[in-house]
Amino acid sequence: MRAVVVTESGGPEVLELQDRESPTPGPGELLVEVEAAGVNYMDIYAREGRPPYTRETPYVLGAEGAGRVTELGEGVEGVSVGSTVAWTGVPGSYAEQVLVPADRAVPVPDGVDAQTAAAVMLQGCTAHYLASTTYPVGEGDVTVVHAAAGGVGLLLTQIIRARGGIVVATTSGGEKAELAQRAGAQHVASYDDYADVVREVSAGAGAAVVYDGVGASTFDTSLQVLRRRGLLVLYGAASGPVPPFELQRLSSGGSLFITRPTLGDHIVTREELVGRTDELFGWIAAGELDVRIGATYALADAARAHEDLAGRRTTGKLLLLP
Ligand SMILES: NC(=O)c1ccc[n+]([C@@H]2O[C@H](COP(=O)([O-])OP(=O)(O)OC[C@H]3O[C@@H](n4cnc5c(N)ncnc54)[C@H](OP(=O)(O)O)[C@@H]3O)[C@@H](O)[C@H]2O)c1
Repeated sequence: MRAVVVTESGGPEVLELQDRESPTPGPGELLVEVEAAGVNYMDIYAREGRPPYTRETPYVLGAEGAGRVTELGEGVEGVSVGSTVAWTGVPGSYAEQVLVPADRAVPVPDGVDAQTAAAVMLQGCTAHYLASTTYPVGEGDVTVVHAAAGGVGLLLTQIIRARGGIVVATTSGGEKAELAQRAGAQHVASYDDYADVVREVSAGAGAAVVYDGVGASTFDTSLQVLRRRGLLVLYGAASGPVPPFELQRLSSGGSLFITRPTLGDHIVTREELVGRTDELFGWIAAGELDVRIGATYALADAARAHEDLAGRRTTGKLLLLP
């Protein structure tokens, strides 16, 4: 089978399409024919060798996908050969075949196709926990969603709106601004002028929560636009990591809170994983959550997918179709 291998840490050129032996499922594992593998920012961090995503090379990249079960390992129950499952947090998904622990595979229901399922496992579960667990958005809460036309951003915007929140979205403009608006953001602004919009929308009080996956370039203004006792959710670093900062700033900013959450801590148990994905799949099947697949690529073009994502040329979800 063919797989995209990280040959050594580095730029997109270290990704190589290689022929590998087909894996055999061990106890508790499923062998899955991958229909769609999700491309995520963490794949770029991993390829670059950024801690904590560093792994010993060579290895097959990718953590998310969906596909058809072709073989069951010993002791697997409740899953049948031929059914479609989806996963996140399973290494080796940039491939034609992958081994998935049965307890990390979620069944994809009728009404949700495999590509859509693959598209929401990582970014959808992230948007879900950010808006419902990290800060459970309530009616009338003023929120900021940075990079709102991105994979997490478009889903997060819709979920916040469904919970009654007010979204001030930032994008780099053009089609991205239109997409954020179509996803439900009531206010769309640039990174330079969104603070004025927050002030106006909140009658001077500031935002209850800022969802910031951009990191280095947005961190300072994200803190500044918070209301008293507001929460900064720093969940990523697309523009680079935030340097260490002086805790005293939380006090002078108005007894602010800050958190740096990860998805792994929010799908710890099977119950939690299935709870989030059931809700996401239910919204999709009911037409309440629009999942934008911004672009698809062949496995051989994984490097180009990485360049496009890091180069800010993409919207919504990127998928590799083996
Ligand atoms: N903590 C978690 O649980 C978790 C889970 C999933 C993802 N994440 C993080 O969430 C963030 C978004 O991930 P995603 O996959 O949905 O990506 P994405 O938002 O689709 O892509 C990143 C976007 O960030 C914006 N951006 C601003 N400055 C940038 C810069 N200097 N370089 C690159 N992009 C820049 C761009 O949008 P504009 O052009 O509109 O500015 C770009 O399209 C990433 O930081 C990722 O690591 C965290």
